[in-house]
Amino acid sequence: MKNINEALIARSKAYTPYSDFKVGAAILLKDGTYIHGANIENASYGLSNCAERSALFSLYSQGYKKEDIESITIIANDHSPVSPCGACRQVMHELLPKNAKVILANTKGETKETTTDELLPYAFVLDEKPKDE
Ligand code: THU
Repeated sequence: MKNINEALIARSKAYTPYSDFKVGAAILLKDGTYIHGANIENASYGLSNCAERSALFSLYSQGYKKEDIESITIIANDHSPVSPCGACRQVMHELLPKNAKVILANTKGETKETTTDELLPYAFVLDEKPKDE
C-alpha cells in the first residue's frame, strides 16, 4: 500500500541517537502529493520532535492548508500500530481536518484506522472563552 511505503520512506530519515525508536509519518494530500516527517531527537531530550508534528509543520510551512489533507499514516517498529503521544494528538486535532483518516501502522504490517476525535476526545480548542467577572 502506497501510504505505508511512503511512511516507511519518511521513517528512514529519523534522527534517533537517544531512543533508537524510529517513527515515520506520511501525509497524503488530495492532489496525490505526500509530505513526509520523521522524529528528530536532541541531546536535550525535551526538544525532540515527533514524526507526526515534523510532517504537519513541514506541510504548513510549505503553504498547504488543512483542507488539502486526505490522510496521515504513521509507522514504527512496535508491538501494535504505533500510538501517537498526547502532544501529537493535540496538534493533529487542530491541524488535520475533522474527516482526515489517521492510519496507525507497524512494520509487521498491522494497521488501525482512526480519527483525531477518537484519539483526543474533549480536545482543547481555542474558541471564544467566557470572561472573568
Ligand atoms: N515518537 C514519535 O515520533 N511519534 C509517536 O507517535 C510516538 C513517539 C518519537 C519521539 C521520540 O523520538 C521517540 O519516538 C521515542 O519516544
